[in-house]
Amino acid sequence: MSIEPALSLEDLVARQTPGMSLEQPFYTDPSIFERDLERIVAKQWLFVDHVSAIPNPGDVITYEIAGESIILVRGRDNEVRAFFNVCRHRGSRICLKAKDNVRTLTCPYHAWVYDLEGQLIRATLMPEDFKPEDWPLFACQVRVWQGLMFINLAKEGDPDVIDFDEIEQSFAPYIEPYRLDSSKIIAIKDYPTDGNWKLAVENFRECYHCAPAHPEYTMVNAYVTDGNRDRPARDKVVEAWAAEWEAKGHVTRGLRPWGEGQNDKQPIGVFRQPIRDGSVTLSEDGQPVAPLMGDLKQWDGGETLLIFGPLFYVYLANDHATLFRFTPVNATHTEVIVTWLVRGDAQEGRDYDVDKVVWMWDVTTVEDTKIIGDNQLGVNSRRYEPGVYSARERGTIGFVAWYLGRMGGKPVSDDAATCA
Ligand code: FES
Ligand SMILES: [Fe+2]
Repeated sequence: MSIEPALSLEDLVARQTPGMSLEQPFYTDPSIFERDLERIVAKQWLFVDHVSAIPNPGDVITYEIAGESIILVRGRDNEVRAFFNVCRHRGSRICLKAKDNVRTLTCPYHAWVYDLEGQLIRATLMPEDFKPEDWPLFACQVRVWQGLMFINLAKEGDPDVIDFDEIEQSFAPYIEPYRLDSSKIIAIKDYPTDGNWKLAVENFRECYHCAPAHPEYTMVNAYVTDGNRDRPARDKVVEAWAAEWEAKGHVTRGLRPWGEGQNDKQPIGVFRQPIRDGSVTLSEDGQPVAPLMGDLKQWDGGETLLIFGPLFYVYLANDHATLFRFTPVNATHTEVIVTWLVRGDAQEGRDYDVDKVVWMWDVTTVEDTKIIGDNQLGVNSRRYEPGVYSARERGTIGFVAWYLGRMGGKPVSDDAATCA
């Protein structure tokens, strides 16, 4: 179904009801998907990959998002740069592979040659007054932080883009001790998801579905059942854990997403909590599956969720990190890539077993692709109508309110809250 002919997107946004899921076109209509890309995706700092994906000068990866192909390349000076994959001659794609190592960036069409810093260094048979220095590749904003590479498709100074420093300052105390910059990738898995990107995000931002849909996750994480049974009792457990570990110098309390003092450009947040009594990590038996990450000296049994806006999430356990990258592909399909990291000097077989590290999020993400796909199929129905979110879907309510705000609706209110 598409937008009713007489109805503008603005009208459609304005008539959505707070606390309820969106009307069908938001999850199915290609023209709304295009606006999502323009108004939201093209304004976000987007995670691309871990720095170890391009360790050497000349290493190149490309990332396809929002109709663009972006080149990330490590220069001879070891700096990571990003460029739009668009030749300055007549616009051809330059890098055609997802991963490569090159001496120059050479366009396959008429062989214009750019150096790794994006300068045009060779173009044959051009007019005499042609100056190669006037035709560098179009730079894309890029930031490398804590070993994570981010790009932003917007032009520098775009008022809709959050200052990346704000993300760094907010997250530094939570993420720095894990030293993701010196950690290593042990697994990357692709979970093609047949759902609109907002259904994937809505699902990721609530745990109302955890007990019915994720038996493994529910077994590992006490908050799922404890929070359903007796929320005040669960809050007391979290508070006691936080007080104990704060006294030992650990950062324990989260930064509330979508809350007071938060920007409405790229909503960020941190959620931190104990996993389960007697468990120190997110493994099947709660016991370590890899050495302590980075600068950590003790197991505190906590897990951290860092929310870098709607499309990138980092889960930190004491001995491994799990990165979730969502890439909207079309109105009903989302690419979900999950990457696992452990301490850089850990050795497979001696210090960790990949299957044990990836177990919980792998099985959980497979289940998520299924429930998101089924959600999309139901939403496609002639009879679908928006439904009411529960008290355990506050993160989802917050996301949808923020989304509507970015699409021209009322500004995000402070009552749109944190993880359920
Ligand atoms: S389009 Fe690239 S060299 Fe012609
Ligand atoms: Fe889930």
